[in-house]
Amino acid sequence: MNLELKEAITFEDHMWLVELHNDPFVLKNITNPMPVSFDQHMNWYKNLNWQKEQRYIFYVDGVRAGFTKFYQIDPPNMNCVLGADLHKDFRGKGLAKSMWQLMLKKCFDELKLHRVSLTTASFNEIAQKVYVGLGFVEEGRKVESLYRDGHYFDEICMYLLYGNWSE
Ligand SMILES: CC(C)(COP(=O)(O)OP(=O)(O)OC[C@H]1O[C@@H](n2cnc3c(N)ncnc32)[C@H](O)[C@@H]1OP(=O)(O)O)[C@@H](O)C(=O)NCCC(=O)NCCS
Repeated sequence: MNLELKEAITFEDHMWLVELHNDPFVLKNITNPMPVSFDQHMNWYKNLNWQKEQRYIFYVDGVRAGFTKFYQIDPPNMNCVLGADLHKDFRGKGLAKSMWQLMLKKCFDELKLHRVSLTTASFNEIAQKVYVGLGFVEEGRKVESLYRDGHYFDEICMYLLYGNWSE
């Protein structure tokens, strides 16, 4: 299987990213659960600060499968924040770990970071399995920082150091 991360370039890439973002299962599991329009998405993408942010589409055998997000890249302190979502056609096939390994390779081998971190909803047990399996460790919680369907939930904060990463 050929797995790679590539930048979004074409109109079709961006249409696909909006579809992925607005998938109800994705919206439920990301921090801001509001759907976006194509114009909002394009505006946001155009205005990203590419010194501090990177975004790549995850491809499986040449087909778009997921979106990977590198936030708050901080070279002086050698850290960044990560996130990633898989399209529904590619979920439940054990691909998340491989997608994350490509992201971690970029962070640790290319960007030479020391630490990466993420947040995940306390109810997102599938994502937590992926992160724990990669060696991420919980370092705290943003208590009741998410509001979904009339209830408050914690966001779990996790980190992984270069020294604890195994490919
Ligand atoms: C989080 C996400 C990337 C994980 O990818 P995935 O394809 O669903 O997960 P995988 O098939 O790689 O499986 C990961 C683990 O979850 C388990 N799992 C997968 N689907 C499951 C399900 N429906 N119910 C219970 N466990 C499940 C797998 O068995 C595996 O566990 P293991 O490592 O102990 O074997 C994907 O679910 C997703 O994009 N979700 C929507 C957006 C999201 O949650 N983003 C992350 C925000 S923090």
